[in-house]
Amino acid sequence: MIREYIEQNRQRFLDELFELLRIPSISSDSANKNDMITCAEFVKEKLIAAGADKVEVCPTAGHPIVYGEKIIDPKLPTVLVYGHYDVQPVVPLDLWDTPPFEPTIKKTAIHPEGAIFARGSADDKGQFYMHVKAFEMMMKTNSLPCNVKFMIEGEEEVGSENLGKFIVANKERLKSNVVMISDTSMIANDVPSIDVGLRGLSYVEVEVTGPKIDLHSGVYGGAVANPITILAKMIASVHDENNHITIPGFYDDVITLTDAERADLNKAPFNLDDYKKDLAIDDVWGEKGYTTLERTGIRPTFELNGIWGGFTGEGSKTVLPAKAFAKISMRIVPHQKNKNITALLTKYFESIAPKSVKVVVRDLHGGEPVITPTDSVAYIAAAKAIETAFGKKPVPTRSGGSIPIVALFEQELGLKSVLMGFGLDSDALHSPNEHYGVFNYLKGIETIPYFFKNFTEASK
Ligand code: BES
Ligand code: MN
Ligand code: MN
Repeated sequence: MIREYIEQNRQRFLDELFELLRIPSISSDSANKNDMITCAEFVKEKLIAAGADKVEVCPTAGHPIVYGEKIIDPKLPTVLVYGHYDVQPVVPLDLWDTPPFEPTIKKTAIHPEGAIFARGSADDKGQFYMHVKAFEMMMKTNSLPCNVKFMIEGEEEVGSENLGKFIVANKERLKSNVVMISDTSMIANDVPSIDVGLRGLSYVEVEVTGPKIDLHSGVYGGAVANPITILAKMIASVHDENNHITIPGFYDDVITLTDAERADLNKAPFNLDDYKKDLAIDDVWGEKGYTTLERTGIRPTFELNGIWGGFTGEGSKTVLPAKAFAKISMRIVPHQKNKNITALLTKYFESIAPKSVKVVVRDLHGGEPVITPTDSVAYIAAAKAIETAFGKKPVPTRSGGSIPIVALFEQELGLKSVLMGFGLDSDALHSPNEHYGVFNYLKGIETIPYFFKNFTEASK
């Protein structure tokens, strides 16, 4: 019945997602503020059409949150579905083969049935919209087995600060038994997996100031500190010859995994040659003594997201710049704490900067790491649902990415999450030409009702 419904509604499911993908809901750009409202209203209308009650676009100090619910019986369990309708910026635009907000289906080697190319297709519009369509299907076929609440936010890509406040203020309304999230990746379409860990994040911006204005680099060069040189040196000092991070105290709270746990993690199917080929690199890089899966799954990192300063226009200009900047994200793992790691980096940079410059480190946002259980009723229900839909048991994996609100679901609402994502790491999330397999989209819609059924039955 599920497969039939999907087959009959396949084109409409795609058309509706295309409409959603056409809204340029870039949360970090104030120029898109109205698009964010348009997008939230769109999600609201679709939740109402699918059969949700009390659907509301809730204003926040930033972008709105869309809430909706269907309570069929308060005695039954409740699943809280979380997702985000905001997307990452699309620059550099010229690297997109088709415009980011004009969804286009194209075949790829990994997606022979076609993939939807558009910003947000995999992260996360295509993924949260599977839940809206699966809910519609359960409503229309009278098979919704338990209660469901939807909370779709517009600030995930900028740190979910206002959602954190929203959940604290709405504890009663959000009461549930588990949080279901499709905003992560699987290993491959024939190797389904469920994420059981997310790294946390400390995101900072560094500003190094030298002289009060840009100077002539011949007249002053050699006698006045160049902020770009100083910043580059500070950044370069963060990794030692083993690519171990040198910030004092950085690893103090990191949990060391047992050999058995590490062996388990490395059992996940992974081919280093394919990985390198896919990224067009001749070799990987990282902390000595750890595999690639460990480097992204269980180890903390220090990554430059951008660096700028001085003259970067056409031709040349001989200038000794007054300022240099960098955006830095550090991925953190249990039991590191976001604020503590930001403080350690700040202290380190302040301590190594010469007197000839001033350094300011600004805390932009962050989130704590999470580990989700694999022995819970909800995890087992999700694993079984995937086995039914894909014909294979999912592999538990650790992902390198972050979803800042997940730690707060646990801390503020006492709720564990299940990270049942259907994208692939190779779907170019945050990159030009982001895409999401049509197979993945439809398979996700098929899997979700199995999860609801399994979870309700096992909760009785
Ligand atoms: N959906 C991603 C996180 C993700 C992607 C987890 C793939 C696992 C696999 C999410 O939208 C994201 O990009 N989060 C940001 C954090 C945010 C605070 C900017 C990230 O990880 O950089
Ligand atoms: Mn996401
Ligand atoms: Mn993202």
